[in-house]
Amino acid sequence: MPIPVVSDISGNCGTGFDPASIPSQQGKVFIVTGGHAGIGLATTRFLSSSGARVIIASRTQTKVDEAIKQLVTEDASLSDRLSYVKLDLSSLKQVKAAAEEVVSKEGRLDGLVNNAGVMAAPYELTEDGIESQFQVNHLGHWLFTQKLMPLLEKTAETTGHPSRVINLSSFAHNFISAYPLASPSFTSLADVNRTFEPTGWIRYSQAKLSAILFSRELNRRAETSGSKVRSLSVHPGFVRSDLYKHTSLSVLQRAFIGPEEGAYSSFYAAASPEVEEKGIWGAYLVPFAKVKQTTKAGDDAKLATDLWDLCGRLVEEKVGGI
Ligand SMILES: NC(=O)c1ccc[n+]([C@@H]2O[C@H](COP(=O)([O-])OP(=O)(O)OC[C@H]3O[C@@H](n4cnc5c(N)ncnc54)[C@H](OP(=O)(O)O)[C@@H]3O)[C@@H](O)[C@H]2O)c1
Repeated sequence: MPIPVVSDISGNCGTGFDPASIPSQQGKVFIVTGGHAGIGLATTRFLSSSGARVIIASRTQTKVDEAIKQLVTEDASLSDRLSYVKLDLSSLKQVKAAAEEVVSKEGRLDGLVNNAGVMAAPYELTEDGIESQFQVNHLGHWLFTQKLMPLLEKTAETTGHPSRVINLSSFAHNFISAYPLASPSFTSLADVNRTFEPTGWIRYSQAKLSAILFSRELNRRAETSGSKVRSLSVHPGFVRSDLYKHTSLSVLQRAFIGPEEGAYSSFYAAASPEVEEKGIWGAYLVPFAKVKQTTKAGDDAKLATDLWDLCGRLVEEKVGGI
């Protein structure tokens, strides 16, 4: 079955999704983290072009201003649909402030696309003393999501449709399970602060496995608590972007898909009515917009609850809770 496997990995052979199939999103509000660049910018473009208001949550205002200028040059009608909130995922204190700013200004939030990320970065601890790839890709998004949960919940009550949390994972979530020297584990800070190996790929894998477990656990909890907030995770494909700046893979980027196709699965997950009709909450999507079985670790209920509980303990310890 070589072709489907290649399709799942890269998206280059992916078919079956037409962005024009997504109905108008007018009246809805979304947040896209890192929504000024790469896949995030393309996601912002799809959502705002389909009528939604999009808040770009990024750490550098000048980059967001530039992205908004570009989008408005392409389509002047987007000018009143795009705004900015400062979000630096490497600081838990700043993540709390960002979410509090959103809650103070917004009356609804239909979807949150947890898109920002770093890949294979050198080993570094954040100001909170947490391995940077784990914090930027996962823990910062976990806290951001928890803080926004009441607004997401309130919106779902009003619209009668689940609000959505989309977590950007990666095919790379597989690597940690194949790594011979350690297994995925989320019982303590020491677990997630492991160096593993010098390239940073296994730490990236740990963070992207976390994105899948986060979606599954959020969904599982919603089913038992009656929450109307639901989640999916997405592997966008191998996509040309700045993400590869810490790696030697930049040269391969010519074979990758562009950011627009890279945003197909995120756009589908955030906005397609089919997701609700099919009830595929908690699923892991691969290019384009196809549900795929993950690794054994991605399906591990204990890992998912351990990760959720660890995030809660770390947030309590570092910034006094949600
Ligand atoms: N490209 C691929 O082939 C691929 C494959 C699988 C999964 N993904 C996932 O897709 C997502 C988007 O990646 P991309 O390819 O679009 O990469 P990208 O172009 O490098 O975009 C990454 C985004 O994350 C933001 N970011 C990084 N550190 C941050 C921080 N501390 N706080 C807030 N924002 C921060 C960046 O903002 P700055 O401009 O400020 O750095 C940028 O907006 C990532 O989660 C990635 O893991 C990508």
